[in-house]
Amino acid sequence: MPREFDLIVYGATGFTGRLVAEYFALTYPGDVAPKWAMAGRSLSKLEEVRAEMGVPASIPLITANSDDPASLRAMCERATVVISTVGPYQLYGSDLVAACAATGTAYVDLCGEPAWMREMIDAHEAEAKATGARIVFSCGFDSIPFDLGVLTLQEAAKARFGAPAPRVKCRVRTMKGGFSGGTAASLKATLAALARKPSLAALLTNPFALTPGHSGPHQPSGLIPEYDPTIAAWVAPFVMAPINTKNVHRTNFLLGQPYGADFVYDEMVVAGLGDIGKAAADALAKFNPLSADKGPKPGEGPSREERDSGYYDILFVGLTEDGARIDTVVTGDRDPGYGSTSKMLAESALCLVENVQGYGGVWTPGALMGAKLRERLVAKAGMTFVAG
Ligand SMILES: NC(=O)c1ccc[n+]([C@@H]2O[C@H](COP(=O)([O-])OP(=O)(O)OC[C@H]3O[C@@H](n4cnc5c(N)ncnc54)[C@H](OP(=O)(O)O)[C@@H]3O)[C@@H](O)[C@H]2O)c1
Repeated sequence: MPREFDLIVYGATGFTGRLVAEYFALTYPGDVAPKWAMAGRSLSKLEEVRAEMGVPASIPLITANSDDPASLRAMCERATVVISTVGPYQLYGSDLVAACAATGTAYVDLCGEPAWMREMIDAHEAEAKATGARIVFSCGFDSIPFDLGVLTLQEAAKARFGAPAPRVKCRVRTMKGGFSGGTAASLKATLAALARKPSLAALLTNPFALTPGHSGPHQPSGLIPEYDPTIAAWVAPFVMAPINTKNVHRTNFLLGQPYGADFVYDEMVVAGLGDIGKAAADALAKFNPLSADKGPKPGEGPSREERDSGYYDILFVGLTEDGARIDTVVTGDRDPGYGSTSKMLAESALCLVENVQGYGGVWTPGALMGAKLRERLVAKAGMTFVAG
């Protein structure tokens, strides 16, 4: 049965949620607008944000509180897709995923919290399959550019070599942007959960944490700076790798291992060449941008100027057993975490409304939406995917 709204942006008063609302208002106005609404826990704050972000006053406002499962269920029943930017997800997200799974409502979010994702897979995958709820975590910078980057490379490898590349190296060449209070809070929530339950360390460091019942070959840790002869440069640990690599392996798992059962994947940041590159790699390995208490507070994040001047460029190198190489490059305009992420999240939700049906379950963006999502991101969201 068609529902009252195609999309509900839940968390529309937060730093990222308001950017998603602005994106819908600017990119899909008037006749091309989906049926959408803004939701949050405070009606007065929603009214303020709707006016501030230039969203038409005709866009309905819905109140729902993460502490009140009945309000979450009532919201889910009105939507084809709920977009959630209410995080940290491990603190505020569980009842919403439960409500989506129970009501057969599609769900997209920006989660980069793998222990919670695994908990949700174990708790709700069976019910989501039964009700047809398409639950898709990590529809932002973690992990779409990486998930679709590997997918794109493997399509090209199959076309050129007749087989996937068993080894793929992801190397983040440039990235300019900042962090928000919600992201800082999510990292702190994960560290607090780890302090309470040290056994979570095994899951957080397991590249196959999101592929229940399945593991694969040994994977590089990505934790030690090293010289990478493939790109003739020094590389350093990448802060998003622990979540992206798990999602990439889950895509391979959900799709029946199109990347091969022996697939090996890592992600690192390119630090530079020669001695300067080595020194930069060592410094990057020690740098934690979210460690200081003076980090951003909930609701805060990079300014519009910082978002507009941001960008990223990510190289994927596929290597075959007989030494052949194939590259793919993914780029995005705007800063990765917010300007680009808000577009990726919005287009993922629209992709579920307009392009992709598929089965219920707990999915990755690459496994459920793959090439359809990539087309939308290139057409609308300032991203490029070039295989060659
Ligand atoms: N993966 C990525 O690439 C990526 C990028 C950006 C953000 N993120 C994630 O997205 C999430 C949001 O980040 P952000 O910086 O936008 O956070 P934020 O500014 O702190 O916004 C959080 C939102 O959650 C709402 N909220 C908090 N408690 C609630 C409750 N009990 N019931 C209902 N709503 C509640 C807040 O409502 P009020 O306004 O009423 O306080 C606000 O709308 C974080 O988990 C972050 O890690 C991920």
